Formats: sequence, C-alpha cells, structure tokens
Amino acid sequence: MKQFPSSELLNSLPKQFFAGLVKKVGEYIAEGHDVINLGQGNPDQPTPSHIVAKLQEAAANPLNHKYSPFQGHRYLKQAAADFYFKEYGVTIDPDKEVAILFGGKAGLVEIPQCLLNPGDTILVPDPGYPDYLSGVALANAEMVTMPLREQNHFLPDFNELSADILSKAKLMFLNYPNNPTGATATSEFFAETIKLASVNNICVVHDFAYGAIGFDGEKPLSFLQVEGAKEVGIEIYTLSKTYNMAGWRVGFAVGNESVITAIELLQDHLYVSLFGAVQEAAAEALTGPQDCVKELNQLYERRRNVLIDGLRSLGWNVTAPKGSFFAWLKVPDGITSEEFANILLDQAHIMVAPGNGFGEFGEGYVRVGLLSSEERLTEAVRRISCLEIFKK
Ligand SMILES: Cc1ncc(COP(=O)(O)O)c(C=O)c1O
Repeated sequence: MKQFPSSELLNSLPKQFFAGLVKKVGEYIAEGHDVINLGQGNPDQPTPSHIVAKLQEAAANPLNHKYSPFQGHRYLKQAAADFYFKEYGVTIDPDKEVAILFGGKAGLVEIPQCLLNPGDTILVPDPGYPDYLSGVALANAEMVTMPLREQNHFLPDFNELSADILSKAKLMFLNYPNNPTGATATSEFFAETIKLASVNNICVVHDFAYGAIGFDGEKPLSFLQVEGAKEVGIEIYTLSKTYNMAGWRVGFAVGNESVITAIELLQDHLYVSLFGAVQEAAAEALTGPQDCVKELNQLYERRRNVLIDGLRSLGWNVTAPKGSFFAWLKVPDGITSEEFANILLDQAHIMVAPGNGFGEFGEGYVRVGLLSSEERLTEAVRRISCLEIFKK
C-alpha cells in the first residue's frame, strides 16, 4: 500500500499530550483494575429529557431531513439572543451578532483562520485548553503565552506584555470559569481587558464553555456584560456543559459583528450548518426550563465539596475551584506534575491530568475532574489517604 505523506500543515499540528496517559489507563483497566478516571472532561450526566424529546420529535420532521440554511436556522439565533438577554441582560442582534457552531471547539479553532495572516501574533493563556493551540497551528500564527499565576488568581497580568508584543498581537483568548484552574473572572479584569484590546486593536475571544458552572452563589460573568465588550470581541458559548450535550456538537459565538461575519463566511466554505433537529433541540435547551442547569450546578458543587473537604482532611492544602468542573491541585513539594499523576495512577488507580499538559505554567499542579459521583470521589480520597506520600 502506498504511503502518502501528510502536508506540512498537518505535521505542524500539536501532539496530543494526554494520549500516552489515556493509553496507560486503558492498560490498567484491561488488567482488571478499578480505575477512577478524574482525568478527562466529559460530562457524566445525561442530557435533560425535555431536550432529548424535542430532538426525537424534530428528527421525524421531513423538513429537517433537507439541508439546513447555510448559516443555521434563525430561530436558533433568536434563542441564543433571548438566552443572553435572560441570563446576562445583554442585548444581541440575532441577525448580525450570532454565529451557530458545531460546538465551541469548532469556533475556537476557526477564529484564528478567520482573523490572522501567517505570522500574526495571538495571545493565549498558559495553562490553557489545549485546543487553542490547534487553531494557532492551523492559522500558522505566532503564539505568545500569558502566564496564569495563582498569586494573581489565575488571571493574566497584562503588565507582562511588552509594547512590542501588544503592537503585534491581533487576537487574545481568555477562558473564565477557567479550564484547568477553576478560577473565575471579575468585571474589573474584563474592563481592563477591554481597555487594553481597544487601545491595541486586539480582538478578544472569551471562551465561556463553563459559563453555567459557578460555586458559592457566584454566577460566572459573561464578557459581554461589561461595557464595550462587543466593540472588541466575541464570546463562545457551548451547550456541551450547560445541558450535558457534549456529544451533540452545538454552540454559538456572540458579539462583534465583523467577527461573526468572518466566522460565518469560513463556515459557508466548510459545512452546511447543523442537522435541523439538533438546532430545534438546542433552541429548546436555551429557551426551555432552566431548573436542570441549577440542579447540575448544585451537583458539581456537592462533588467539589466532597473532594476538597476530603483532601484538606488529609492535610493537603488545596484551593477550592470557584467555577468549571475542575479542581486544580498543587502537587506535594519535591515532585513534578507527571510524577505525581503517575503515583496516583500506579498506587491508587486514580487518573488525573498532569498540569504541564496545559502549558509550562501548569507544572506543579494536577487537574481533577468533578465528573464522577460523590461515592467515587470519596473513594478516591480514601485511596489517596493510603499513599505513602501523605503519611509523612
Ligand atoms: C475551555 C474549553 N473550551 C471549549 C471546550 C469545547 O467544548 P465543545 O467543543 O464541546 O463545545 C471545552 C471542552 O472541554 C473546554 O474545556
């Protein structure tokens, strides 16, 4: 069989850091071990039944068997606008300020290609969601990282960006509630971001994937709630986490009209929008009853408390996340993230994600997903309590 070489573009794509770890977990499971998987970010709860029922009904409608309109159904754009008004008091023009996406990831990967020329500079948080790097590579862009440090509540310190970098930067990714750190943003920080972006002509892309998940009574802030945000950027919203619809692949971008137009133009060339029945179900999710979202938030908060309280009772001084469904835990002194993740896997059969997989500034931490039941998290704490490293 002939072997066709891949393009330079494909060869330039970042390697999947967690592939090795996933393989190792698979081996432990194959050997019959009971592995508690806290390493990945896949919601474990089902999609609420009223959304599934809408999909079932809509799937039977022959109108949905045809191509959907290229840029998606207007009713879904209206539903996104209504959702933003109801949840955040933000007014969105459904015709000009909403682009429908095949999940948030698609939008995040498309945007650099929409706005950057090869060699243009993009600012990316470190640690950060690894898929930002895929968009950077596909656009052949230059990446400059913005360290997220614990002493700065995992917000970037813009004073660290030189005048030269600011003059070159065209795009900035932000993400709060944050994956992997669980930090949330403040309106002061967003206001500072808007000022910086406005002065330096930088387009801000706020990834609001965990917008629905905030703890201790704090509702995470939408970037668009802060004055001037639409002037300088967009927000990416996904239904994956809010409604446990990760497998459905549906999200949307809202905000700056020129960016929305650019996304829609690129998508006209890539796809013919989403299955109409998925669009109907997504509209139902956004405009239907929201009790399911509140209950999900409470579930994650209970899990967070079980994990954090449990680990603190072992004398491990961990910080509780304020949002998202991840806890970002400082590893014990004297070992690296990967060494600690290996100890957990080898000695306790617990999988966590080593922080250095999210960037250089992730070293010294591991990310723990709150995507297992309270019983499993309790069991994880029990297994950790038996580790030598915590007995010292
Ligand atoms: C920070 C962040 N952004 C975006 C996404 C993409 O989600 P989706 O493509 O399912 O909308 C994820 C998924 O894990 C994420 O963690």
